[in-house]
Amino acid sequence: MTIRKVAVIGAGTMGNGIAHIFGQNNYSVQLVDLSDEILSTARNTISKNLERQVKKNLITPETAEATLGNIITVPGIDNIDKENDLIIEAVVEKIDVKRNIFNILSNIIKPDSIFASNTSSISITELAGKTRPDKFIGMHFMNPVPVMKLVEIIRGYSTSNETYELIKQTSETIGKTPVEVYDYPGFISNRILMPMINEAIFSLYEHVATKEAIDEVMKLGMNHPMGPLTLADFIGLDVCLDIMNVLYHGFNDSKYRPCPLLKKMVDAGKLGRKSGEGFYQYR
Ligand code: CAA
Ligand code: NAD
Repeated sequence: MTIRKVAVIGAGTMGNGIAHIFGQNNYSVQLVDLSDEILSTARNTISKNLERQVKKNLITPETAEATLGNIITVPGIDNIDKENDLIIEAVVEKIDVKRNIFNILSNIIKPDSIFASNTSSISITELAGKTRPDKFIGMHFMNPVPVMKLVEIIRGYSTSNETYELIKQTSETIGKTPVEVYDYPGFISNRILMPMINEAIFSLYEHVATKEAIDEVMKLGMNHPMGPLTLADFIGLDVCLDIMNVLYHGFNDSKYRPCPLLKKMVDAGKLGRKSGEGFYQYR
């Protein structure tokens, strides 16, 4: 099987980046979300990010135009084309929402297509359920998708070798470097990254240092491109909290308890960049 048509479900921070990178590499892309308004914002974001690449001489204006031409937006999964070869789900990090989407899609999409989830932490085996477990896989992109090279590829319990090989090759065709991991909470990336971010939030909560000082220590001391609190804002504090909860419940270990300050900020709607305010303010 060759993958030509890709559908991306969810057009938020990650979904628009995933659509962008497939469109840029000549795949035919359907980008799906709940409303035309959300999809129009996503399209504007893709357009701005393409302009940024053109300004940096990374792509030509013609490629930018062709990329936008390769992406069509679809309001509601009921209107998705059943002939898509690969479905990549990138909706909120909530197992019920994701499972519901895959259950609906398994009745619509042709049976030989691959189902992938961009989940940050949730079990691929559990998401696959009874949909098509041999053709179900984790395809975990990093934010910002057009820039970051890694795709963490997660094998569920029943993922076939054929599915794994196809997704590995497909990741290479879009200029990414696939790394294979197995299905445990948070996989590798967030099992290691998220406790560091949570600890940075605890350090702020316990008044060990200011937010600026915490970020500066990690940037200058460890050569991280962004401090952990800036990175948390960049990822989305709701996403960080959801991931910590998956680690906490998945391992049944108190070392993964989310910091109360993180919970309070999410309750207050301070989600980071996407809401205009998190640890820092954004225009
Ligand atoms: N498309 C989308 N966003 C882009 C982009 C592109 N082509 N190029 C840059 N960006 C983003 C930046 O975040 C930032 O936004 P604003 O301009 O709107 O403020 C801006 O664009 C910075 O642009 P720069 O040109 O200054 O970029 P830079 O060279 O300084 O690098 C960066 C920016 C690549 C994001 C760098 O800061 C970095 O590597 N940060 C760490 C990123 C990281 O750790 N990502 C992984 C997060 S964890 C994850 O993704 C997994 C999970 O499950 C949570
Ligand atoms: P986001 O909140 O920015 O976007 C989620 C999108 O899903 C929204 O546009 C929402 O309208 C849409 N959505 C919700 N229910 C839907 C439905 N039933 N049908 C269609 N669309 C629906 O979230 P995000 O940060 O893009 O995260 C998406 C997924 O990617 C999560 O699983 C997250 O853990 C994972 N992820 C996030 C990051 C990150 O840095 N933010 C990195 C890697 C992976």
